[in-house]
Amino acid sequence: MALMHEIDFGTPLPIAGTFVTLEIDGKKVTVPVGTSIMRAAVNAGVQVPKLCATDNLEAFGSCRLCLVEIEGRPGTPASCTTPVATGMKVRTQSAKLARMRRGMMELYISDHPLDCLTCAANGNCELQDMAGVVGLRAVRYGYDGENHFKNAEKDESNPYFTFDPGKCILCSRCVRACEEVQGTFALTIDGRGFASKVSAGGEQFLDSECVSCGACVQACPTATLIEKTVIAQGQGEHSIVTTCAYCGVGCSFKAEMQGEEVVRMLPYKDGKANHGHSCVKGRFAWGYTTHRDRILKPMVRAKITDPWREVTWHEAISYAASEFKRIQAKYGPDSVGGITSSRCTNEETFLVQKMVRAAFGNNNVDTCARVCHSPTGYGLKNTLGTSAGTQDFDSVEAADVIMIIGANPTDAHPVFASQMKRRLREGARLIVLDPRRIDLVKSPHVKADYHLPLLPGTNVAMINALAHVVVTEGLVKEDFVKERCDLVAFEQWRKFIAEERNSPEAMEHITGVPAADVRAAARLYATGGNSAIYYGLGVTEHSQGSTMVMGMANLAMATGNFGRRGVGVNPLRGQNNVQGSCDMGSFPHEFSGYRHVSEDAVREVFEEAWHVALRGDPGLRISNMFDAAIDGTFKALYIQGEDLVQSDPNTQHVAAALGAMECIVVQDLFLNESASFAHVFLPGSSFLEKDGTFTNAERRISRVRKAIAPMAGLADWEITMKLSEALGYPMNYSHPSEIMAEIARLTPTFAGVTYEKIDELGSVQWPCNDKAPEGTPIMHVNGFVRGKGRFLITEFVPTDERSTERFPLILTTGRILTQYNVGAQTSRTANGVWHNEDVLDIHPFDAENRGIRDGELVSLASREGEITLPARISERMQPGVVYTTFHHAMTGANVVTTEFSDWATSCPEYKVTAVQVRPAKHQSAWQEHYRETRRQTTQILGEPSPTNLPRT
Ligand code: SF4
Ligand code: SF4
Ligand code: SF4
Ligand code: FES
Repeated sequence: MALMHEIDFGTPLPIAGTFVTLEIDGKKVTVPVGTSIMRAAVNAGVQVPKLCATDNLEAFGSCRLCLVEIEGRPGTPASCTTPVATGMKVRTQSAKLARMRRGMMELYISDHPLDCLTCAANGNCELQDMAGVVGLRAVRYGYDGENHFKNAEKDESNPYFTFDPGKCILCSRCVRACEEVQGTFALTIDGRGFASKVSAGGEQFLDSECVSCGACVQACPTATLIEKTVIAQGQGEHSIVTTCAYCGVGCSFKAEMQGEEVVRMLPYKDGKANHGHSCVKGRFAWGYTTHRDRILKPMVRAKITDPWREVTWHEAISYAASEFKRIQAKYGPDSVGGITSSRCTNEETFLVQKMVRAAFGNNNVDTCARVCHSPTGYGLKNTLGTSAGTQDFDSVEAADVIMIIGANPTDAHPVFASQMKRRLREGARLIVLDPRRIDLVKSPHVKADYHLPLLPGTNVAMINALAHVVVTEGLVKEDFVKERCDLVAFEQWRKFIAEERNSPEAMEHITGVPAADVRAAARLYATGGNSAIYYGLGVTEHSQGSTMVMGMANLAMATGNFGRRGVGVNPLRGQNNVQGSCDMGSFPHEFSGYRHVSEDAVREVFEEAWHVALRGDPGLRISNMFDAAIDGTFKALYIQGEDLVQSDPNTQHVAAALGAMECIVVQDLFLNESASFAHVFLPGSSFLEKDGTFTNAERRISRVRKAIAPMAGLADWEITMKLSEALGYPMNYSHPSEIMAEIARLTPTFAGVTYEKIDELGSVQWPCNDKAPEGTPIMHVNGFVRGKGRFLITEFVPTDERSTERFPLILTTGRILTQYNVGAQTSRTANGVWHNEDVLDIHPFDAENRGIRDGELVSLASREGEITLPARISERMQPGVVYTTFHHAMTGANVVTTEFSDWATSCPEYKVTAVQVRPAKHQSAWQEHYRETRRQTTQILGEPSPTNLPRT
């Protein structure tokens, strides 16, 4: 596809209300009230020259290029700031307008370096375009004039873009993008008049508040703010629309290409999840895709202490299959299994679980969603009937009260956080439930009405206390409950929740939050209009994760907050395809679409389609596989795209389990930590090499389109297909669209999904079937999917993980904006300039008590293990709680986490670990061991062979 340029309408689309008809250059056009003349003109097929306007920013009216004449009105108003009116007659072209526009352009050009031919924006510069459009032929004031910033130093501090003040036309689009789109307010215009200058708060970009989202770069009409890759490589010549492979927001991007090389990733304006915005990861951190650490040849070894041997695809796959068969013959059919990945596409994931069920002949398939959002599926299915969030992201625009629980959207879901911040700036109220003072508690123009800093592990106590207020203060939406919910279950719940032991006062000593704040927050949530809950892993990764999900559903049902825009219960999914991997039947007890394997009628459908007898007993979960491996009954594992050693809790236990197996097949981009235990390595593909779909947190299925061929020669779905064939169960797909066709045939909620439909609509949210042919943005509109909404009793049970004299602090973990999960991708990009190591946040009180100083090495020990990392003294923490991220393998945060897990789903309790923190002089024994293991791995691998080097 040629390089794609979306239409720029100049100003935003107003909320549609009534419409007006007017005439522009003799053409009649009908547009919503509030539309600018500029936007109406584009609708009429007329382009008015412009420089300071662009359609994702409010009109500013500074460049004066867009002047028009309006019949019956004096002067020449700016079309970007003038709204349309019924019967208006507008002229966009006249000799007078042309003269005025040329005059404006003369002023700009007289103060601009004329190095167009060597400028990185050449061919993609709005200033250049406008000079052409207005017919500029001469500049009366000369060219060597006062380009007053011509000698100003370029700011090249950001690793991904530069700022060259000499090319700035002071249109202020960057400043407004940072405010209106991103909500960071990092930029200002410093100085006055001719001395005005864009400034990142007086600092270099890297040292400023800038979060490197790229919105200003995208907004800049000149080469002032521009990507370093464009400076180095030039403009792309074609582009491909695809989906970000990092977080569950699922932003759409245009990969701008030169041949098979990416020049830049530009957020796609028509992307339904991101509307043209992005964060630093999707926008800039894609360099890992060609990093020299990529393994591009299949490898095998008989023992994990042997060196790897590069082999052909045929040899690697035959060896893997023969090992799986040998092990099943020796240890029984249940001794092998597979792990699907939320990083991979729906189609890839579907094939892995199909291979396990049909070729291995058991249900031993699980997914990394097990360790993040499995309680979401369980809790929402049991209360509402569907294992997914209830709203689309745009729904937040109608929320009056936003409640964020155990999530940190500005770091983990940044593009949605920007949308949320915009709504908060418009006046929505905010309640934050989090042990830490996350950014949203107080950031430019956003301030939480209530921050309830509950102790880790007390979510259920808190949600019960909130619900108690609703029930006992007469705030239940009785009509809604009567019409929509199971009344027997409701009455049982009402009785339970009204008990005094669930009151904010009774719970105060458990949650640590003053009862008055809890009461006030509950009243706001129940009476503030449309109230929406957004939650993250701070909810699910607990021993009562599923209970808490049910508790949130109870609260939202009791207050009538389901079934329309602005309300709902919404998981912010961690990885790009967590929703999809769950939908695709990755759990050992469910086929795609969350149908239990024990249901005969369901199994028959799959047996008929797959021509094989299927088991009706659920298989092993990841944690069961580990335990069985240590017991000696589980011997082989196929892992697609997940690093179990680094991601799962209690690293030593995971390592012992993997070390006890006889055959581990790892399919991945890099030799990750799990690959240290592998016998077969199958090189996987990055998202740029894939065709398929991802499903984001709003159930939105978006296309992933191949921008370059798989670097190792085979696509991931082809690898699984070949392995299955070698195991004796051939599959015959020639393209991922055929896999999606099978998914649609076998999964009622996907029945209407096709690649053609996604291409036509841009994306589609499931359920998509005869009842909802274009998908379902908002669930439970006319009733709950399960029929009547079911209130469930949510008894608070304290976690077994308690602080003790020996381990008196509670550790909780999370993510940071610039790194992603275990860092496999982001650590191989320039994002390290922001965060090159994990640190331990500790409250000044706890630090002082332990003689810990900022930046010093500390030991973090739990009953499972000990690591060392630098301390950061932070008032964001509350006394008694410490926090770290888990992005760097060397830190080994999961060495200290425990195996406690959610009672219903086995989701690990990452968010609560009793620890002690002390000053340290040396790295921990585990870290010494890790360093030695990596050294050996590097030795085994040797210098990267020519096949392992990036092609470009
Ligand atoms: S990159 Fe984003 S945060 Fe940084 S200045 Fe530009 S718009 Fe603001
Ligand atoms: S840096 Fe670019 S967007 Fe910002 S004021 Fe200058 S020309 Fe306009
Ligand atoms: S918000 Fe998430 S999906 Fe969007 S660009 Fe960032 S990491 Fe990618
Ligand atoms: S585009 Fe209207 S004043 Fe600049």
